[in-house]
Amino acid sequence: MTALSPIPAPSRAIDRLIIRQPDDWHVHLRDGPMLKAVVAYTARQFGRAIIMPNLTPPVTTAGMAAAYRQRIVRAAGKDSGFTPLMTCYLTDHTDPADLRDGRKRGIYTAVKLYPAHATTNSAHGVTDMEKLAPVFATIEEIGLPLLVHGEATSPDVDIYDREAVFIERTLAPMAKRFPGLKIVFEHITTRDAVAFVRTAGPTMAATITPHHLEHNRNAMFAGGIRPHLYCLPVAKREPHRLALREAATSGDAAFFLGTDSAPHKREAKEAACGCAGVFCAPMALESYAKTFDEEGRLDRLEAFASLNGPKFYGLPVNEKRIALVRAATPVAAEVKVGRSALVPFHAGATLNWRFEGLVAG
Ligand code: DOR
Ligand code: ZN
Repeated sequence: MTALSPIPAPSRAIDRLIIRQPDDWHVHLRDGPMLKAVVAYTARQFGRAIIMPNLTPPVTTAGMAAAYRQRIVRAAGKDSGFTPLMTCYLTDHTDPADLRDGRKRGIYTAVKLYPAHATTNSAHGVTDMEKLAPVFATIEEIGLPLLVHGEATSPDVDIYDREAVFIERTLAPMAKRFPGLKIVFEHITTRDAVAFVRTAGPTMAATITPHHLEHNRNAMFAGGIRPHLYCLPVAKREPHRLALREAATSGDAAFFLGTDSAPHKREAKEAACGCAGVFCAPMALESYAKTFDEEGRLDRLEAFASLNGPKFYGLPVNEKRIALVRAATPVAAEVKVGRSALVPFHAGATLNWRFEGLVAG
């Protein structure tokens, strides 16, 4: 008698997931009343977060970064357990001595490169990469990761091609010229970026947002213009979104979580010339869980959210654990800030996952 092959056990759906506490490797917390309105959303889910420096004026010195860090810690509450990791905004006039000093004093965790006029508050960004070569050499030498907003800004480049053109014209030559420079290609939106990161070697990594995993460019125009889904880089065609989902859920250590939560008041979004940015902090982990669940890869969420980022940055992983449960979770229609409001990602919808908070273990 021939033995019957064993019947595979039905794969049990995961209904509760306990993972090391994640970090957000890219977030905009703003300042003043906006900071006070948004910081708790990030602090309740994440152990640490890389704080974007594109304030007005931008955070361009170690002194400014130290003061901003204090304002964040105060706004989060001293007992929040949340650690902001500060970045320096590169300009044409960045002083390498300030980078060394900020690194030595433990103020800077990374350096942010905005090509001038690429996005919100980037007017003071870098106009000429070539002139900044000595600064990149210093960053390479002192070992701070360089976080790159990867979009070509030349007006002849179509908005949907900006990322791919940036790789060709700027990022690939930069990686070649500074082989020891650790680079995080921020909020990637294309299969070109996924492919580039995969072939670039261990000094190159990328963050991926929840909204770029969920929406392609059609979503911005579904039934009318949807300003709350407009961000930079803009979402691309469906094959690009699918490439991002594959990369995020692949377990490849080069890809990790960065929400790019970027709050703007409702009236600044719903305007004739609306601001770029998706406020995704309130349901960040629930949104990522949705994607990993849909891909049948909840088992790889911890690598993406909690392990790959610290590994690339050379930081310890968080010891605390958090729980996510499968449960209908309504999302608020808005979040008040002063007399105005912010409209969060998934506003008014119901998600299938809920962040339960820290758990023992
Ligand atoms: O959509 C975006 N919003 N992209 C960015 O690069 C900046 C951000 C912001 O600061 O609002
Ligand atoms: Zn950003």
